[in-house]
Amino acid sequence: MQKENILITGSNGQIGTVLSQKLIEIYGYDNVLTTDIGHIDNIHGRFEKLDIMDVGHFKEIIHKYRITQIYHLASLLSAKGEKDPMFTWNINLNGLLNVLNLAKDNNINKIFFPSSIAVFGETTPKLNTAQDVPLLPDTVYGIGKVTGELWCNYYSKRYDMDIRSLRYPGIIGYQSLPGGGTTDYAVDIFHKAVKHEKYNCFLEKDTMMPMMYMDDAIHATIMLMEAPKEKIKLKYGYNIAAFSFTPEDIYLEIKKYYPDFEIEYNPDFRQKIADSWVKSIDDSKAREDWAWKPEYTFEHMVESMIRHLRAIYKEGEPTLS
Ligand SMILES: NC(=O)c1ccc[n+]([C@@H]2O[C@H](COP(=O)([O-])OP(=O)(O)OC[C@H]3O[C@@H](n4cnc5c(N)ncnc54)[C@H](O)[C@@H]3O)[C@@H](O)[C@H]2O)c1
Repeated sequence: MQKENILITGSNGQIGTVLSQKLIEIYGYDNVLTTDIGHIDNIHGRFEKLDIMDVGHFKEIIHKYRITQIYHLASLLSAKGEKDPMFTWNINLNGLLNVLNLAKDNNINKIFFPSSIAVFGETTPKLNTAQDVPLLPDTVYGIGKVTGELWCNYYSKRYDMDIRSLRYPGIIGYQSLPGGGTTDYAVDIFHKAVKHEKYNCFLEKDTMMPMMYMDDAIHATIMLMEAPKEKIKLKYGYNIAAFSFTPEDIYLEIKKYYPDFEIEYNPDFRQKIADSWVKSIDDSKAREDWAWKPEYTFEHMVESMIRHLRAIYKEGEPTLS
């Protein structure tokens, strides 16, 4: 069997921090290279500073470490991305094309591209949203993800490449802090509760969005990437789902642990982005094709977040990435 050498872009981020550790656990320290444009933070694996826009340096690293798989996480997220649409487009779309072209020309045998529920838009049915629906996103981030999925589909078929993709919902984890997305509130609210502070929510209380616990997101990623190639029927982003909730739902659930916890709702520009997304997802295609199933319920996720954050804050203010 060929020895796999995995490179992760954007490994210092909310998902990269956790996924890197899991990949190191599975494939071994020497077989995983973490990379990011930022300085090394929470990562305990081998690290190279890498800007995905620097194709020459990227190629050098692929050769130096004999890379065979790329998990391409580097991106600017939905809310942050709106601050400079052209810059975001360049990093998110041209960055992906750099990865696809380097992979095509340098014997990379498998690629992971994380897509997002941001692909959905005004014309998408909002409830139990199916796999193949109208996609007309309102954010530059969403445009990049839709186009990215199309390029992944194209490269898979045109060059017979093995490219796999998921549409992550909002990801909630205690291990890292989110990086500027519209679902960030669902992580921030836990930190405030555990610190006995009031939470100022940037969305309306009844804004329902699909979400997932970090452990399930990592599990889905590994399941997708390890599934036999013939099981991967879609060459673009698979819908995956766990649960959906509103800011008020999560506030009331957290209140069971912190009865004095207070929240105030002051929606900002992110409300419009959230309103353009869907409320719940039908992930039956992923369940059928590669047996995806989440483990965490909403209540179980809240209990686990609070338990872990209490332990982290006991040690003092966390230095999360
Ligand atoms: N976190 C979520 O809820 C969520 C939901 C849907 C999809 N996703 C997708 O999953 C992936 C990872 O998300 P995340 O939440 O960990 O993001 P994040 O913002 O926390 O991390 C992104 C990382 O990319 C790095 N980066 C930015 N520009 C770069 C460049 N030019 N070169 C190299 N690195 C660069 C940043 O330094 C950062 O560490 C992204 O593609 C994102 O779109 C995330």
